[in-house]
Amino acid sequence: MMTKRFYIETVGCQMNVLDSELVASGLLAQGYEQVERACDADILLFNTCSVRQHAEDKIYSALGRLKHAKRYNPLKIIGVLGCMAQKDGSLIFRRAPHVDLVVGPSRLGRLPELIEEVTAGASAVIAVSSNRQAKSHRKARESFAPFDPARRVEARSAAHQAMVRAAFGCDKFCSYCVVPSVRGPEQSRPIEQIEEEVRLLAGQALEREVALEVTLLGQAINSYRYRDGRQTFRLADLLHRLHDIEGLSRLKFVSNHPRHMTQDLVEAVRDLDKVAPHFHVPAQSGSDRILKRMRRGYTADEYRQMLRRIHETVPEAAVTSDFIVGFCGETEAEFLETVDLVRQSRFKNSFIFKYSPRPGTHAAEHYEDDVPEQEKRRRNNELLAVQNAISQQDNQPWVGRTVEILVEGPSKRWLKGDRSDLPRSGPKGASHKSDLSPLGSEVTQLVGRTVCDRIVVFEGTGELIGQIVPIEIEKASAFTLFGRIPSSQSK
Ligand code: SAH
Ligand code: SF4
Ligand code: F3S
Repeated sequence: MMTKRFYIETVGCQMNVLDSELVASGLLAQGYEQVERACDADILLFNTCSVRQHAEDKIYSALGRLKHAKRYNPLKIIGVLGCMAQKDGSLIFRRAPHVDLVVGPSRLGRLPELIEEVTAGASAVIAVSSNRQAKSHRKARESFAPFDPARRVEARSAAHQAMVRAAFGCDKFCSYCVVPSVRGPEQSRPIEQIEEEVRLLAGQALEREVALEVTLLGQAINSYRYRDGRQTFRLADLLHRLHDIEGLSRLKFVSNHPRHMTQDLVEAVRDLDKVAPHFHVPAQSGSDRILKRMRRGYTADEYRQMLRRIHETVPEAAVTSDFIVGFCGETEAEFLETVDLVRQSRFKNSFIFKYSPRPGTHAAEHYEDDVPEQEKRRRNNELLAVQNAISQQDNQPWVGRTVEILVEGPSKRWLKGDRSDLPRSGPKGASHKSDLSPLGSEVTQLVGRTVCDRIVVFEGTGELIGQIVPIEIEKASAFTLFGRIPSSQSK
């Protein structure tokens, strides 16, 4: 058989980036070859996101464009994977009849076998979990069994950065959010499995002589809870457990829910050197009425108290947040309460989204999406301007300081603004295939990050990729610090 070439396009959050990596490593293990350009592929895979309408529209229009490619070459296989596959299921075949395969997030382990079915002539092959609402909690857990294959570490895109799943799914059911129904119930991975994976990655990093940064992933990672007999392990325990692994340099975790920011976790961040003093802890709104409608489970003041506790315990901590503007019924006065919260909190940065109704969610079914699009846009821009001014100001004191950064790769992608719908502190920031210094000794613009996730651009050689190096900061914008290798260090 000729080697089959696959191409995978990923949108959405870090969970999806990780899933794509795991899918790719599964296919490589079966003898498939991964290609960088869609036009070179026999199998086109889209790993999709449903968090906002816009993310879905992009995929449906990409699928629409493939209709002719499929007519021209009927042997091409087109697969839709991930959250939108779970949400829309067979509707995808009706909207795009040239799609061959639809596979939900917890069925991704079956992908190689499903591709073979299509190759053998099957059409409209679908593997998704059953509707979460219609099931008991136990049945839902079974149906959303985690996609958790043994990892082929050599298939990762970069030896110096890795995402490791700590928990699947979400049980928070924020009223606007589709994630609990597409990703299924919250399920924490056994602590020893996570440890084993990190040890494997660290061993490989030691062999390759690079520093390793691990980002632990979960939708509400600070509610990680794994029970083993009588003992219960929480996120703080997990951080302590991983901290001393030889070869591990940095440990990050995303995303946090404000209600679970326990003091033992904040103290673990203070006490453990390798753990990044960075908390991504989305507030979503500064108005109590809106927070209640969003079913977030805290008030704006409780959020402020939590922030105070973080800053008192870890004074150097960087905090980042997400906000939704134009949520159902949000008045101008309520929007201004969000503006106040952003002004007072001085987040390192915030990701701001216009509310997008998601079918099946509590908000879409019970509240009217009554803030006009134009008004949502205005609120989005206004809040962004407030946040950007703060980011710009708070980045200035870094000028003149020397910071340690982990060098991720050439900076081109960042400069082109390669960002999907969600914050990603993982490998996607730098050139995807950077890995072990393909640039050799040529001087180029490189990008790296400080331990609290500040992006630093500087000039250096490809050999620095994967190393932790000191950089003297010379200039700062709202999003980026610009610097140089201190003269005592440069060759
Ligand atoms: N589990 C993570 C991230 C969830 S999705 C967390 O809770 O932190 C990332 C962000 O997308 C959310 O924080 C929220 O700000 C935004 N989001 C989720 N659903 C949305 C919707 N229906 N419309 C607009 N933004 C949404
Ligand atoms: Fe969605 Fe809320 Fe769960 Fe985050 S915590 S994934 S916003 S339901
Ligand atoms: Fe999107 Fe699924 Fe992540 S809906 S935000 S890719 S969990």
